[in-house]
Amino acid sequence: MSLIKHHEKVETNVLVLTLGIFLTVIIGGIVEIVPLFSIESTIEKVQGVRPYTPLEQAGRDIYIREGCYNCHSQMVRPFRDEVERYGHYSLAAESKYDHPFQWGSKRTGPDLARVGGKYSNEWHTRHLINPRSVVPESIMPGYPHLMRELNYDDIGARLATLRVVGVPYTDEQITNAKALLEAQATDGLDEVLEQFPKARSGNLDGNPEKITEMDALVAYLQVLGTMVDFAEFDPAAANAYR
Ligand code: HEC
Repeated sequence: MSLIKHHEKVETNVLVLTLGIFLTVIIGGIVEIVPLFSIESTIEKVQGVRPYTPLEQAGRDIYIREGCYNCHSQMVRPFRDEVERYGHYSLAAESKYDHPFQWGSKRTGPDLARVGGKYSNEWHTRHLINPRSVVPESIMPGYPHLMRELNYDDIGARLATLRVVGVPYTDEQITNAKALLEAQATDGLDEVLEQFPKARSGNLDGNPEKITEMDALVAYLQVLGTMVDFAEFDPAAANAYR
């Protein structure tokens, strides 16, 4: 009551008004922010989500270097038209190891969040070399230079850097990053699959002679959106902040 009685005083006195606003914002802020400290993560835990293999990560770096995000988003929004076109809407957990994330908003080309497994490795290689060879009306540029050798000298350091921002690579994976990358790009997939389920098999670009940037990029594209098994996914359980 007294506030209503003294309302005019509060509104006409700059100091009191500023103090009042300040107090309100502080209380509002505390109410919103403090609960976040008591939960382990704001991202639900989802079965199947794992860090990228060294080869996939190298491919991801190429995806960013080439600016694919200028034309492609990586987030299926929870709308019916999107879900019918691309598949299950994207979960926060699916990009929790993405640094930086590639959600995007520009779609000159289709969303790529669930492109993994949609086409064969050969299709991807042909498409990336010259999109018109498989999609005659395509306006996507070709990337034939990706058939050059992949430089992965620093892949261990890259994984170590990602660990700093929270990607749970083990010491062993960082030390063996080069060997794991070579194994996935050639014939040692079993060893990679043990640690990274659903990784795609070697010689992705059809050229067994060398490990190319194409191998890495195709390995990355082929895992996109495939880590979570949506036949078993239970959104209610995932939202319970376990
Ligand atoms: C100038 C815009 C543009 C850029 C840059 C671009 N794309 Fe595309 N992309 C398109 C368009 C348009 C399509 C649809 C026609 C087609 O399939 O070629 C497409 C299609 C695709 C598809 C097939 C998607 C599907 O579901 O059918 C993949 C995969 C793809 N792009 C990957 C890439 C990658 C990887 C890069 C970077 C190396 C890239 N794109 C760069 C415009 C672009």
